[in-house]
Amino acid sequence: MATESPIGIHDLSFATTEFVLSHEELAAYNGTEIGKYHVGIGQRSMSVPAADEDIVTLGAAAAAPIVARHGSDRIRTVVFATESSIDQAKSAGVYVHSLLGLPSACRVVELKQACYGATAALQFAIGLVRRDPSQQVLVVASDVSKYALDSPGEATQGAAAVAMLVAADPALVRIEDPSGVFTADVMDFWRPNYLSTALVDGQESISAYLQAVEGTWKDYSEQGGRPLEDFAAFCYHQPFTKMAYKAHRHLLNYCGRDTDKDVIESDLGRTTAYNAVIGNSYTASVYLGLAALLDQAEDLTERAVGFLSYGSGSVAEFFAGTVVPGYKEHLRTDANREAIDRRKPVDYAGYRELHEHSFPTDGSDQANPAQTSGPFRLAGISDHKRLYETR
Ligand code: CAA
Repeated sequence: MATESPIGIHDLSFATTEFVLSHEELAAYNGTEIGKYHVGIGQRSMSVPAADEDIVTLGAAAAAPIVARHGSDRIRTVVFATESSIDQAKSAGVYVHSLLGLPSACRVVELKQACYGATAALQFAIGLVRRDPSQQVLVVASDVSKYALDSPGEATQGAAAVAMLVAADPALVRIEDPSGVFTADVMDFWRPNYLSTALVDGQESISAYLQAVEGTWKDYSEQGGRPLEDFAAFCYHQPFTKMAYKAHRHLLNYCGRDTDKDVIESDLGRTTAYNAVIGNSYTASVYLGLAALLDQAEDLTERAVGFLSYGSGSVAEFFAGTVVPGYKEHLRTDANREAIDRRKPVDYAGYRELHEHSFPTDGSDQANPAQTSGPFRLAGISDHKRLYETR
């Protein structure tokens, strides 16, 4: 039955990896001037998965605190968004559903459209809750961003999962209509089935992202969206944090506005803290930006936040959310900092070994070394089946 209740993000939790590689380590290995990483792309470090971590263990770790806080009685749908999928048929969400002990009266599905997938999941979740506001949808966005060693993309790698509980009368952010949407068939970034690392045309990918910013904003305005002045902050997809600055400058230019450095910093500055030290988390990235904003900003009650979600290939969406009174009481700021601070530094050699770790492609069994101290681990593969454990 249709309802007028607001619908949006009721809770948000994230998880990242066991290890972290600093950009100083990477720069010392490849001879890059550190300013290119710290200033040029705006990255300080990247999350590196342990050999026994993957999108499932990260996704389950992100979602477990949400289930612990709210229970699972009302969760009738789990939508798992990823572009680093582990199986061509089975949804990674089914493993998460099992690890979290969710009820069997639940539908679970995996969604893919590069880094845009989590926003599709959020919008689909809103549709389901609108149909029956007593239900909640668990959205899990989980990705491991992996480029070839010694490639230009290597410095933008990262990994994280964000879990969001979508519900009526949300405690954090009400998601508004309309959305501005945009699709263009471009080959800026892709990963064919036979590769474990992404292919990318770096400069083309930046142009495609900027084209999508224009396209979504144009459609958002035509659909009757808010004027630019309404927004207290903007959460962009952040493949590297400087991309958000490029995108916002482009939007302001497109709208004929002043591109003053201080204005841009005030619009974006608080959204980049987590992405700068985690790296690209693909589908999760824009919502890590939201977590950083809510955790750090002064009071945002009833202020509008703009979201620009971009997925290469390409699909993008611009939409607005309004921050709910009392939201600060529901944040997970300490847990978020702990997720980042608990990572163990690896040196370049250790990172390279982890980067090269993979399952055999001939179907033989493999046990993974026990490395993660997170709540779930991927113990290995046997008889072509992934074996997950709760620690
Ligand atoms: N001090 C300060 N700045 C420096 C510097 C120094 N010593 N040396 C270089 N820089 C600056 C450069 O001027 C440049 O800044 P501008 O872009 O503002 O001009 C910046 O550092 C990067 O330098 P380059 O362009 O020379 O870097 P590169 O070509 O080696 O790699 C990249 C950059 C193409 C983005 C590469 O990291 C890459 O391929 N990344 C993956 C693709 C990507 O993230 N694309 C973004 C859009 S696609 C998307 O969003 C989807 C997704 O998640 C992948």
